[in-house]
Amino acid sequence: MKLLSGEILANKKYGSSLYKLEVFSPYICRNAIPGQFVEVKCSTEDATDPLLRRPFGIYEIDKRFNVFSLLYIVRGKGTAFLSRMEKGQNLDFIGPLGNGLKFDLDDGKKYILIGGGIGIAPLCLAAAHLAEKEKEILFIAGFKDNVFFSWEKDIAKITQNYRIFTEDGSFGEKGLPTSYLAANIKKLNNSIIIACGPSDMLRVIQEILVNAHGFTALSLLEERMACGIGACMGCVIKIKEADGTVVYKKVCSDGPVFNLMEVIFE
Ligand SMILES: Cc1cc2nc3c(=O)[nH]c(=O)nc-3n(C[C@H](O)[C@H](O)[C@H](O)COP(=O)(O)OP(=O)(O)OC[C@H]3O[C@@H](n4cnc5c(N)ncnc54)[C@H](O)[C@@H]3O)c2cc1C
Ligand code: FES
Repeated sequence: MKLLSGEILANKKYGSSLYKLEVFSPYICRNAIPGQFVEVKCSTEDATDPLLRRPFGIYEIDKRFNVFSLLYIVRGKGTAFLSRMEKGQNLDFIGPLGNGLKFDLDDGKKYILIGGGIGIAPLCLAAAHLAEKEKEILFIAGFKDNVFFSWEKDIAKITQNYRIFTEDGSFGEKGLPTSYLAANIKKLNNSIIIACGPSDMLRVIQEILVNAHGFTALSLLEERMACGIGACMGCVIKIKEADGTVVYKKVCSDGPVFNLMEVIFE
């Protein structure tokens, strides 16, 4: 992990509040793995508001051109600042952070990636990695509405095996990714599920899998963070280990990848 500065090559508007930021960084392209994130300074060089860096999962890595990208939704001050950054400016960030996903590519399993809202972002890097290794993948995405409409072209480049659901039916099929999972649970077995999204969605997946067999389930958690490097305890969650012991873990440095079935949602 390093403090880095990378030239912004593009900051494209993907939807009303959705942007893709492309940054030149040989270091990230060489060292990051799917599931890892960067902490971005979201203010000008001398400014201190917002003081804390903001975490973003790595969305794409293009090793040919040493470019990685972030896909982000404008939520508050930090992301509004990011959305105003332009080509040619430098992005100040720390990364790669966290323990990413480690795949056993000889396990004979299929991978089901389930993303809710902006939770699809880090899953896309995982999907691209798995597709490159010729693993069988199914990508299931769920959104509230059609803000992510332009994103479909990115997932279509990675795999044709994807399903998109929206709550209001304005994009893809009307419904929830969790309902699709529940309805197809038998035919999807012998899979590794990797999920990222709102905790309500993760909790429902956990409930569906409690009585299902033949699944390993991993989650990428997106707790609010302060330091991002394990120093402040700002991102602690509860984990119930296999023997029933409840322990505290830091999402930034112990995660963000956790066994979904061990996460205690409160
Ligand atoms: C490991 C990790 C990876 C992430 N990856 C991405 C990503 O790829 N793309 C992306 O758009 N966002 C991602 N996020 C969330 C992103 O960090 C926040 O949206 C961002 O910090 C908001 O900053 P802000 O200053 O714009 O908003 P703030 O002013 O800090 O907050 C505005 C609103 O957003 C809510 N909010 C802030 N952070 C989160 C969060 N982590 N989860 C849910 N609600 C939050 C606040 O409660 C508040 O209501 C990730 C978070 C983590 C921890
Ligand atoms: S954000 Fe500081 S310990 Fe995780």
